[in-house]
Amino acid sequence: MASLRSAKILFCWGFLLQRWLLLVDSAIGVNWGTVSSHRLPPPVVVDLLKANKIGKVKLFGADPDVLRALRGSGIEVMVGIPNELLGVLASSATASDLWVSQNVTRYMGKGGADIRYVAVGNEPFLSSYQGQYQSLVLPAMLNIQQSLARVNLAGYTKVVIPCNADAYQSASVPSEGMFRPELTQIMTQLVSFLNSNGSPFVVNIYPFLSLYQSADFPQDYAFFEGSSHPVVDGQNVYYNAFDGNYDTLVAALNKIGYGQMPIAIGEVGWPTEGASYANITAAWTFNQGLINHVLSGKGTPLRPGIPPVDVYIFSLLDEEQKSTLPGNFERHWGIYSFDGQAKYNLNLGSGNALLKNAKNVPYLPSRWCVINPMQDPTAVTNHMKLACSVADCTTLYYGGSCNAIGDKGNISYAFNSYYQLQKQDSRSCNFDGLGMITFLDPSISECRFLVGISDSSCSCVGCGVCCALWIMAFWVVIYLRVMNSL
Ligand SMILES: *[C@@H]1O[C@H](CO)[C@@H](O)[C@H](O)[C@H]1NC(C)=O
Ligand SMILES: *[C@@H]1O[C@H](CO)[C@@H](O)[C@H](O)[C@H]1NC(C)=O
Ligand SMILES: *[C@@H]1O[C@H](CO)[C@@H](O)[C@H](O)[C@H]1NC(C)=O
Repeated sequence: MASLRSAKILFCWGFLLQRWLLLVDSAIGVNWGTVSSHRLPPPVVVDLLKANKIGKVKLFGADPDVLRALRGSGIEVMVGIPNELLGVLASSATASDLWVSQNVTRYMGKGGADIRYVAVGNEPFLSSYQGQYQSLVLPAMLNIQQSLARVNLAGYTKVVIPCNADAYQSASVPSEGMFRPELTQIMTQLVSFLNSNGSPFVVNIYPFLSLYQSADFPQDYAFFEGSSHPVVDGQNVYYNAFDGNYDTLVAALNKIGYGQMPIAIGEVGWPTEGASYANITAAWTFNQGLINHVLSGKGTPLRPGIPPVDVYIFSLLDEEQKSTLPGNFERHWGIYSFDGQAKYNLNLGSGNALLKNAKNVPYLPSRWCVINPMQDPTAVTNHMKLACSVADCTTLYYGGSCNAIGDKGNISYAFNSYYQLQKQDSRSCNFDGLGMITFLDPSISECRFLVGISDSSCSCVGCGVCCALWIMAFWVVIYLRVMNSL
């Protein structure tokens, strides 16, 4: 009896301790993607993260400028290995050593970047890849792990594999969750390794896509405000798609013997335009609901009181060069527009009640390219097509913020988008004489005609120190002159 009781107490303590450990860590991070032709300078983005007390950031690569800017910031970083590199990293320990030394080790150390995770591939098991990367993931991960061990980082920087939620499925309710049959064996090996290494299982969950892809998906189930269509699973009732999806994964992990495996959410979010369910209100409702839900520590029916270890919102900024193959919304996931201006208010639970905007954004001059009103717009179709084939025109379509600006508006928007993409090169506003440059902002209510961002790293706006030095030098010269003339 006594031993049973002490075992129970021990179990309880173990449980509480685990709960406490998991709770302490739970925090809201963001994905920082850079598929944009108007990239904010990395130091501006890092200041933005700091101003908003965002302590964790997930990258899709290991961009040197980005990692340099993150040095000394105290922000925890996940770097990423693109799927295209999995082949060479799986087959060569030398390539793996080189990757780790160039993209991890050189930024670490005192005052460096705090790289906590290396994501080996990005959603490598996605069904649409048709198994292309499937056999490469484990060997690449093991090589990276060994490379990290050789530089004594294995205990600190963990390898993870961000998986799309399509890696698992359920015939009906969450408790019947299982990994896709062809992945069962590989997942068992993978999870066993991650578990022994103290790495979480990283999954990307998108209720927006469920709603977008399925007409009979109950809309309110996608959000966090209770649902008129709850999913009843034995004794458990699910009121939102996020919990349902999460517990489907928990059940799948349970089936392969790892029901306790910590889970991190690598991507989750809601776009603001580009589809009928994508708008500012919906994005705010979803993201704020998600954050409140996670920070409440409630957990899910299968993991009560144990929220995910980390949650990375997708995404920090809009990326207007992303492929529109999934839909026009793909370029509009940001809680901020491309230039670091908050699209809506979000309380990240970090102490700031509202989002703060980016400071010192090095915009190009305030000028735009529009259609010359004296010209006949019937001849412009081809110009417009060409402009929109490289520059972003997604806002002009159904569900976009510029969908209702009329024929000429459409053309001007396309011209300007192209002109800004070309960094305001005056030749790029010619369009056979149909375009003209204007200094009056052509933006119409919700529809914003953008001004691009400068590439030059040291304009006086973007680089206050540079400016201060010039001013100081100027005054020193004046002072010396005055002293001389006395
Ligand atoms: C790794 O570092 C090298 C050298 O700086 C760089 O060329 C490469 O792009 C980096 N890899 C990734 C995935 O960013
Ligand atoms: C925004 O999206 C939500 C659902 O995704 C929808 O219910 C709502 O009507 C939309 N709002 C507008 C103004 O289109
Ligand atoms: C502007 O372009 C969008 C996308 O092609 C289209 O839906 C809309 O009808 C256009 N507006 C006009 C007035 O032609």
